Amino acid sequence: MAGLFDLTGKVALVTGSTRGIGKSIAEELARAGAKVSISSRKAEACEQTLTEFRKQGFDAIAQPCNVSRKEELQALVDATQKKWGHIDIVCANAGIISQPVATWEIDLDQWRELIDVTLTGVFVTIKAAIPHMIAAGNGGSITLTSSGAALISGGGFADYKAAKSGILSLTRTLACELAEHFIRVNAICPTAVDTPMIQNETLYRSFRPDLPNPGREDVKAGFQTMNLLPIPWVDAADVSNAIVWLASDAARYITGVTLPVDAGNQHK
Ligand SMILES: NC(=O)c1ccc[n+]([C@@H]2O[C@H](COP(=O)([O-])OP(=O)(O)OC[C@H]3O[C@@H](n4cnc5c(N)ncnc54)[C@H](O)[C@@H]3O)[C@@H](O)[C@H]2O)c1
Repeated sequence: MAGLFDLTGKVALVTGSTRGIGKSIAEELARAGAKVSISSRKAEACEQTLTEFRKQGFDAIAQPCNVSRKEELQALVDATQKKWGHIDIVCANAGIISQPVATWEIDLDQWRELIDVTLTGVFVTIKAAIPHMIAAGNGGSITLTSSGAALISGGGFADYKAAKSGILSLTRTLACELAEHFIRVNAICPTAVDTPMIQNETLYRSFRPDLPNPGREDVKAGFQTMNLLPIPWVDAADVSNAIVWLASDAARYITGVTLPVDAGNQHK
């Protein structure tokens, strides 16, 4: 049953949507009434998510798609278009993170892989989807997942920050190009979000090298120092709720914005 932001009749495509923020985006869009096209790299995860969504009564399809492969993205967009005849909402969400090493120590192949997935993957997503959206003539909403990391200063993660900053520029450029078609383009910038991207052993170890086996509780205080509000991280739903609003008519004249969902992180 759709709530405040009714997306009944809309079709949404979300990349990287079998876990974390992307899954929450797809879930909340579906809850608001949209039909959703789910995807991520792994076929098994797609199947599992699709089963969960159908159990909840959502109208959904799922297809494996690695955003660094343009043929797979084109196939995903084409399958979505074929299934429902139009695409109204695109959330280019898939992305990967790196390690907090000094910039000059980043391995070139790692740099290329991160940019390929996290920035070029967004470009490839919208490149495949936009012609369908323009041809349909229904307008639409595109939300690109950037990061609070693109808004703050600090050492480390230069590859990730470069990709996420690139997304902000892409957002503004697209907003200008697509306004005449009533296709709105916005970027979302979350602070740390409680997902497997940050809740994993590698990140715990980089935050707490002083401990032999650091865990979730051991990194909370460190994460909390980054936010203005006294919390270590936000929930995926905090991000997806903002995206549902951006996708809805309640935000019908909002385009080209960088929307932080960051617990005040950028002001620290
Ligand atoms: N978690 C955070 O703290 C945080 C903060 C700010 C921004 N973000 C951004 O939000 C987005 C989602 O992050 P998350 O925390 O949900 O991450 P996650 O690692 O929990 O989930 C990422 C999803 O993307 C998929 N994915 C990864 N590489 C892919 C590829 N090449 N092709 C297709 N799918 C791929 C994964 O399979 C997974 O479904 C990312 O762009 C991330 O950079 C996350």
